[in-house]
Amino acid sequence: MHLNSTGQDLRTESPSLYSGAYQVIITPSILTANFCELGKTMDEALAAGINWIHLDVMDGNWVVNRTITFGPALIKSIRERVGPAVFVDCHLMVTNAEENWEQYVDAGVDLVIFHVEAVNDIPALIANLHSRGCQAGAVLNPATDASSILPHLADLDLVLVMSVVPGKGGQSFMAEMEGKTREFRSAIDSQIASGGRATKLMIDGGIKAHNAAQVAEWGIEVAVVGSGLINDKGTIAENLAEIQEALGPEKGSRRMDERESHANR
Ligand code: DX5
Ligand code: ZN
Repeated sequence: MHLNSTGQDLRTESPSLYSGAYQVIITPSILTANFCELGKTMDEALAAGINWIHLDVMDGNWVVNRTITFGPALIKSIRERVGPAVFVDCHLMVTNAEENWEQYVDAGVDLVIFHVEAVNDIPALIANLHSRGCQAGAVLNPATDASSILPHLADLDLVLVMSVVPGKGGQSFMAEMEGKTREFRSAIDSQIASGGRATKLMIDGGIKAHNAAQVAEWGIEVAVVGSGLINDKGTIAENLAEIQEALGPEKGSRRMDERESHANR
């Protein structure tokens, strides 16, 4: 079981992730961590209440700055360290996700997020992931239109909107992603209202305490936070508390109430 802090199963298709104290799930990106200390960083994150880990895989080819981060071996070690109760996703910034997606499933991730710009046969990749019992997520670059993902929405467990150009942590948030995010929110809400899948909506890049409430209001349910959580300014618990305080229990509640009412029908 993959439970969130309120004991709900993160793997279900129910959109009832909102009834906890904070409606937005915060998941750390580890790119700004000290990789020699990753085990301790994971322990610290879990002790702070984190129950979803976001793992950024870059293959030295796909991102513009040609960075290499890590691959399945490290992910497997992280899975073993955090245990089965934590939800783990991998954000594949690689040229050949259609060839090597299964290595990440074998490493123990719950959700594979692939870049639509790098995949030829999106329905086949989604079907392959689902056939292995793994959730399927699609992500798009700031310059890519929502239309690249919308035709596949009914089969996707998650859509990730990039609010920086992928490649490294610590970049500035692109507020101009608002229109695209709201477009996905509205399409997902319509899908749920007509009895379809409760595709989750996630954002990644430049999220910190100062803009967390802003993206919650856009309809984001899961926010990746890298440099805002893992930094020299405070512990993960302190940084998370600051973000949760900025979010407040009431932020985005009107939208959440609407979606909860769909879920409870
Ligand atoms: C960007 C990655 C991120 C990112 C998040 O290429 O996908 O997950 O590093 O880090 P911050 O929050 O520092 O932008
Ligand atoms: Zn990422």
